[in-house]
Amino acid sequence: MGSQFQWLTAIHIFIFQHIPHLIAGQSVSSLPYTSVTGVIGEGVILPCHVGAEHIPEIFSVQWIFNEQSKKRTVSRYDGKNKKEIQDERYQGRTEFFHREFRAGNMSLHLKNVKNSDKGSYTCVVSFDNQYHDVLIELEVAARGDVPSIFLKSHVKQGISLTCHTEGWFPEPQVIWLDGQGQTRKELSATKITMMPAGLYSVVASMNLEPGSDMEVSCRVVNNLLNTMSESRVLISDVFFPSISKWLVVFLVILCLSMVLISTTFCKLRSHHKKTVKLVKVKMAMEEEKEKLKSMLEKEKDKNKTAKAENRKRLARYQVELAG
Ligand SMILES: *[C@@H]1O[C@H](CO)[C@@H](O)[C@H](O)[C@H]1NC(C)=O
Repeated sequence: MGSQFQWLTAIHIFIFQHIPHLIAGQSVSSLPYTSVTGVIGEGVILPCHVGAEHIPEIFSVQWIFNEQSKKRTVSRYDGKNKKEIQDERYQGRTEFFHREFRAGNMSLHLKNVKNSDKGSYTCVVSFDNQYHDVLIELEVAARGDVPSIFLKSHVKQGISLTCHTEGWFPEPQVIWLDGQGQTRKELSATKITMMPAGLYSVVASMNLEPGSDMEVSCRVVNNLLNTMSESRVLISDVFFPSISKWLVVFLVILCLSMVLISTTFCKLRSHHKKTVKLVKVKMAMEEEKEKLKSMLEKEKDKNKTAKAENRKRLARYQVELAG
């Protein structure tokens, strides 16, 4: 801000050195455009300096806000009756530097700057049938609150971080930094929305992968004011989802169950083989049994025939004995 004023003063000096050439008639115009930045809620000085040899007692100064359709008199001072009037929109918010009038300083102190104050203003000073006017552009800006960082959720193996801050004007810039103050490589997204008060609210998000730099800071920059607000967090490994551990557990379980399945399968196979063997043995025994049975049968038949023969022989002997 200080340098801005120095710059403005330098320009004014330049202009006033050339005023003798500019005075061609009744009206004297200085710079067509000078810009000042006011911080919302704070005060700002709208500069206006008249470089005349001396300012008479009877003069008037008027600050006009150039709205699209009409010109609104913000404040007016009349040297004749030493009265100062204000527009209702600026009620209690403007002040001239009365003691500085004689030195040509017609600047206006605007207090408690509002978003609606943004725009172009003209300072018109008149005395001795001369008009001096200065055009000023008032920019408004706001530095929002300190950003808050949230660990939002787990994504894949990392953590989703969000940075939230509000009360900025104009739209701020969000930068994620690492522990060394370098811009982070991770992809990030920024959502900026305008709040009812005309200020911006910012939500930025980023995914932190395990193994990357754990020091994260969210910096919000207002390029118009050249200021920033920053928050920093250091994330412990504990916060990362331990999917890898579970994966190990899962793999171990998988291996164990595969071993179990394969041994069961082998056992079943060997059991099956044994059964087949037993069946074969049983069949062989059955065959043996059949053979033995038939042999026994044959033996019986043989016995029968032998018995019959013996009986015949016996009968013959009896006949022979009797005869
Ligand atoms: C006018 O006076 C005020 C108060 O002393 C000072 O802050 C400001 O810089 C002066 N402006 C100019 C243009 O001289």
